Amino acid sequence: MFNVQIDGVWHQFPKGTRVIEACEQAGSYVPRYCYHKKLSSPGNCRMCLIEMGLPKLGPDRKPELGTDGKPAINWMARPQISCAQDVAEGMGVRTNSPLVKECQQGVMEFLLINHPLDCPICDQAGECRLQEFSVDYGTSQSRFLENKVKKPKNVVLGPRVTLDDERCILCSRCIRFCQEIAKDDVLGFVDRGSYTVLTAHPGKRLENNYSLNTVDICPVGALTSTDFRFKMRVWFLKETKSICTSCATGCNTIIGTREDVIYRQTPRENDAVNSCWMCDYGRLNFDYLQSERRLLEPQILSGEKLVAADWQTAIAQAALELKQFSGSEIAIIASGRMTNEELWLTLQLAKTLNVPSIEIVPRTGPGDDILLSEDRNPNMNGARLLGVTSEPGAKLPAIADGVKSGRVTGLITLGENPMRLGISAEQLETLSTFVVMDILSNAATEYATVVLPSFAFAEKRGSMINGEGRLQRLNRAVRAPGAARDDWKILRDLTQACSGQNSSYSIEDVFRQMAEAVPRLTGLSLSKIGDLGVQVMEAHESPAPPVDLAAKNIEEAESQRPPGR
Ligand code: SF4
Ligand code: FES
Repeated sequence: MFNVQIDGVWHQFPKGTRVIEACEQAGSYVPRYCYHKKLSSPGNCRMCLIEMGLPKLGPDRKPELGTDGKPAINWMARPQISCAQDVAEGMGVRTNSPLVKECQQGVMEFLLINHPLDCPICDQAGECRLQEFSVDYGTSQSRFLENKVKKPKNVVLGPRVTLDDERCILCSRCIRFCQEIAKDDVLGFVDRGSYTVLTAHPGKRLENNYSLNTVDICPVGALTSTDFRFKMRVWFLKETKSICTSCATGCNTIIGTREDVIYRQTPRENDAVNSCWMCDYGRLNFDYLQSERRLLEPQILSGEKLVAADWQTAIAQAALELKQFSGSEIAIIASGRMTNEELWLTLQLAKTLNVPSIEIVPRTGPGDDILLSEDRNPNMNGARLLGVTSEPGAKLPAIADGVKSGRVTGLITLGENPMRLGISAEQLETLSTFVVMDILSNAATEYATVVLPSFAFAEKRGSMINGEGRLQRLNRAVRAPGAARDDWKILRDLTQACSGQNSSYSIEDVFRQMAEAVPRLTGLSLSKIGDLGVQVMEAHESPAPPVDLAAKNIEEAESQRPPGR
């Protein structure tokens, strides 16, 4: 630990701490543009200038002591940048001296001379560092009388990012992000002096799957998201902390919404999961919540066609149909996109109906070695930990064969389309019961006997376990449309209607029951998961043996697992 004096007060910091970070930890925030803690420090904006000093050495080359008994400081004559320097023993820092304030005002004035000052039509307004630092560290006047330099505007850098070069302050964060994180060296500066502009290298486009992170880290409105620009003022957005459900990584996010519409998703820092980044694929994967195919009300088969029903009727109808079956005549196909609570309740439903096993549909796609996982189900580890499945997809062919041969005559699908598993429309038509719980209608929905419209990821609360074994929390950002219902409530009501027994009253109840039965979740609750999650499994742990649904109850099955599972 090094002793460092910041604005007259001595603090201790570990070796290797950046001076700019030390100042922030000591409560003396130093403004910055080019510095980003996850990127290299080129020190090119000069906004982080401070006064710095090193211990004063006596004639014997030993530090002299000041009147406070601490090392006296030899202040350097010129200001120094704080973003590219680590703390040292006996170092002194001044962040608010008259010289520092003059430097900050000077840098702000230089940065703004060619800036278009188009805040009223700029998407960054409300979260722009130029605006914020102008107020906090700049002056309200400009001495610049000359014409501003004209630069390219509305430059399409790639399919998702639009550049306004006049707003760019040449901090190079976007260039460094592409080089250091996305491993796609695509951006650079060209031309000299006041005419320097950011551009894509000849023949290249900013089209990597991480391109929108450049928009997040651009401190001004130069880089904007083509999807989000001009759609909503950021100060109208309600921000909800949640997680991305587009793959097994489970990047931490902030969902920006207004009046039950999602306008954007941005990454939320979590060093155990996604650092400060997320991929474009996951970030933009929310349009389907507003889809025209959204299921808005429960439906039951009446005669030849599906008709709208209220929830009580739909659940009663589903329970009536399901209770006619026994054991292997019925199959449940669940989804790796379901939360732990929903999977847990699905196990209870399966137990009530004596269904021998639940199958989960695997979902894969190309991954990368940055964040995007090949496993596109966000909660396969949850299914493994709860014992829903040990080998996802292994029993799907048997279910499909069962439907084809007529052995399986009742089918429950939870967020999955059975036609993707090779079950044809004709075969679905032969089912005597086909209960569908889903968000969107698909080709199979019209063959359902009961349709139960459920919630999408941003409309519900719950927990999931990512591919690295971290238990994380989904939070509700918007209300669901129509009469759609929370999945856990649908499953609870269906189980109650089939078993005739009351079970849980809140999602916290469901988690508590789960935590009592699953040792890895002992002592946890939805609130204890916190914003950053809790590690509950090893990253590449082999799956728990599937729960024996024939066992008398789930607790019994849990107690039969090998120790530590
Ligand atoms: Fe910095 Fe933004 Fe300009 Fe890139 S576009 S150099 S992030 S100001
Ligand atoms: Fe230090 Fe830019 S933040 S020079």
